Amino acid sequence: MAKVYVFDHPLIQHKLTYIRQKDTGTKEFRELVDEIATLMAFEATRDLPLDEIEIETPVSKTKSKVLSGKKLGVVPILRAGIGMVDGILKLIPAAKVGHVGLYRDPKTLKPVEYYVKLPNDVEERDFFVVDPMLATGGSAVEAINSLKNRGAKNITFMCLIAAPEGVEVLKNAHPDVDIYIAALDEKLNEKGYIVPGLGDAGDRLFGTK
Ligand code: URA
Repeated sequence: MAKVYVFDHPLIQHKLTYIRQKDTGTKEFRELVDEIATLMAFEATRDLPLDEIEIETPVSKTKSKVLSGKKLGVVPILRAGIGMVDGILKLIPAAKVGHVGLYRDPKTLKPVEYYVKLPNDVEERDFFVVDPMLATGGSAVEAINSLKNRGAKNITFMCLIAAPEGVEVLKNAHPDVDIYIAALDEKLNEKGYIVPGLGDAGDRLFGTK
């Protein structure tokens, strides 16, 4: 079953408070999302495999650890997921970046894929699918379907704020996908916004309101 991790580090919680506030402007919002994504990536990469190599310090020879070079990928769900990419790449700069775009079908209200571009070696990479908000879970489920349909095997989902409803939907649809969250909020409202949330993450990131 999927594991759900809530990253309640004080720095993450502090920065979240400021992105939640309605008077926080676009520039600050974007910078804070970037910083939170970096802090989350630090926690999310805790289990990366290491190799031991021989090195020589100015004092003696010793064995020391380096990353074993696991291939990683970051896949933002368009468009708000883009706001998390640079922050993650600060820690894992060699990761490749894919993109998944989804729109909501006006009749079925279900997310439908309109754009997918992934690295060629999908099957060999571990992916972080990222979106600031996990609301109903529909987009996250569909984005992960898009990756799995193209051969991705090892996927983690990372978001800033989640609603319990979305976590349940994602866990049930993809029990093999662990979920990393900075804050688990109360609920969804009747318009599908997370409460208390932060409003529309895409609009706040890109200043389109
Ligand atoms: N998407 C958002 O940007 N905000 C929400 O509260 C829910 C979905």
